[in-house]
Amino acid sequence: MKVTVVGAGNVGATCADVLAYREIANEIVLLDIKEGVAEGKALDIWQKAPINLYDSRTIGSTNDYSKTAGSDIVVITSGLPRKPGMTRDDLIETNSGIVKMVTENIVKHSPDAIIIIVSNPLDVMTYQAHLTSGLDRTRVMGMAGILDTARYRAFLASELNVSPKDIQAVLMGGHGDTMVPLPRYTTVGGIPVTELIAADKLEAIITRTQKGGGELVKLMGTSAWYAPGSAAAQMVEAIAKDQRRVFPVCVKLDGEYGIDDCYLGAPVILGKNGIERIIELDLNASEKELLQTSRTHVKEVMSVLDNLSK
Ligand code: NAI
Ligand code: 2OP
Repeated sequence: MKVTVVGAGNVGATCADVLAYREIANEIVLLDIKEGVAEGKALDIWQKAPINLYDSRTIGSTNDYSKTAGSDIVVITSGLPRKPGMTRDDLIETNSGIVKMVTENIVKHSPDAIIIIVSNPLDVMTYQAHLTSGLDRTRVMGMAGILDTARYRAFLASELNVSPKDIQAVLMGGHGDTMVPLPRYTTVGGIPVTELIAADKLEAIITRTQKGGGELVKLMGTSAWYAPGSAAAQMVEAIAKDQRRVFPVCVKLDGEYGIDDCYLGAPVILGKNGIERIIELDLNASEKELLQTSRTHVKEVMSVLDNLSK
């Protein structure tokens, strides 16, 4: 299994490290445009192998896509992260050019790869990669839902003083403040969360989750990487090992949930073919309304992209 991670910054390097030490892929290529950075980080990860006991080969490349040839899965993290005061959408102009160029190179050298986008604004960058690659929607997807649900689950675990392992949740919509956590589908060891937590506390956790990325940007001056890098690696693992895991993933909806031609977070089954199935939940009226609001927002950003390419 060969996996390429494009962008050897905070998220990309973390993702490559998780892929290596958890032996999710036996061959990992880390690529960046900054001279020597990907080679250096890849070498550092490889030199950790005798300490952490793994044998995944990790190599780096400065913009030489021939090294990525024949990748089975590619994770694209290249692009600017946001700074305090910026929204993810403010990144569109720079990042759309980067994602387009990277996707062209990836498809040229690895025409059969499954592509996972991480760069922001996530839903629209995934749409960009889909347009550029011409690949089926089952093979081009974005990482956001695993991260956003992880934040939600972590906040719930702190509030309830239970293990995060026992909290199951699903979240839909775009990767932004309009994301849609679904308390009706949140359980703690199989118990509906609403039986364990007061409504106002749950509401506060939902709001904190929706603004979870911004909370970290304020603290660090740039966006998060440990959880995002691990989340992308978890998607790679589900595909590489054909685990058929059920995750919220940014996927192109073509009629599902009454939404057409829009990349948006929804629960899917992830396996060796990428998106094996989109799961359609029986949302109630208020959940549907929140999802439509999120869709409207993502569509607005998609039209900015469409205008940029004119
Ligand atoms: P970073 O600045 O640490 O790393 C980005 C890397 O991309 C840099 O090393 C840069 O040299 C590289 N790069 C830029 N142009 C490139 C090109 N044409 N080819 C190859 N490499 C190129 O940023 P970080 O924190 O790793 O974030 C990366 C992206 O992921 C940002 O857009 C950020 O907003 C996004 N992000 C998305 C998340 C999600 O949930 N989907 C979560 C966290 C970050
Ligand atoms: C995050 O949610 C900024 O998308 C990035 O951390």
